[in-house]
Amino acid sequence: MARKILIVEDEKHFHDLYKEMLEGKGYDILSAYDGDEAMEKVEQKKPDLIIMDIKLDLVKGDTVFQYLKGIPEYANLPVIIVSAFSQRDYKSLEDIDPKVVYIEKYKLTEEILLEELEKKLKNKISEVLEWEDKFSVGISMIDEEHKKIIGLLNKAICVKEQNGNPEELREVLREITNYVLTHFKTEESYMKEFNYPEYKDHKEEHRIFSNETTAYKDKVIKGDYQIANEIIEYLKWWLVNHIQVTDKKYTDCFKRNGL
Ligand SMILES: [Fe+2]
Ligand SMILES: [Fe+2]
Repeated sequence: MARKILIVEDEKHFHDLYKEMLEGKGYDILSAYDGDEAMEKVEQKKPDLIIMDIKLDLVKGDTVFQYLKGIPEYANLPVIIVSAFSQRDYKSLEDIDPKVVYIEKYKLTEEILLEELEKKLKNKISEVLEWEDKFSVGISMIDEEHKKIIGLLNKAICVKEQNGNPEELREVLREITNYVLTHFKTEESYMKEFNYPEYKDHKEEHRIFSNETTAYKDKVIKGDYQIANEIIEYLKWWLVNHIQVTDKKYTDCFKRNGL
């Protein structure tokens, strides 16, 4: 099946130029001329990759990009940004997705576009998650647990990508779910012990996540193997966001109490 590429560009001249570069190369080309239309097309047509300008009319490209990164189903959708602005002006986008590809509009050639496109499409599902300093909550014992979770998640990605053995995948999903639940218990017991003021809200986030993952895992165990990609993307998205936002809030409190 041909891979679907969505071109989001409000200047017709550039839009047609990208289209021309990709035509006859075995892709299905979809078009959107502003940010609203882009989001609509993503939902309706489920593209495999987006080529997007930043300075669009009405809803801007960076808004679309942030919207995509906030939804688990689309968070891993590769986006190539092509803009007349320099990358420096959009440095903040790298915090949302460090793997963002940014090409300056006037430097774009057919060769560069095709090369970046193939690289991105190849990595689309198999991207493992590397531990980065920004994931650290500043407490080594908790960091070690988070590293183990990321390691298990990578194991699931590798099983899915390399041999696709359903039994092995089921096993690693069971392993992740069990380990994450143990990790939640560790965090919650410290929060309780240290009278952490946001204990209830944090615990609620854990509870919602546990229910979602258990439901997903049960579907895979019952044989819905196709859902495996969705669960892996969901796990990745949730963990990265939860660790970087919610978990980091307890650092001061935990440290004050001697952790
Ligand atoms: Fe955590
Ligand atoms: Fe947590």
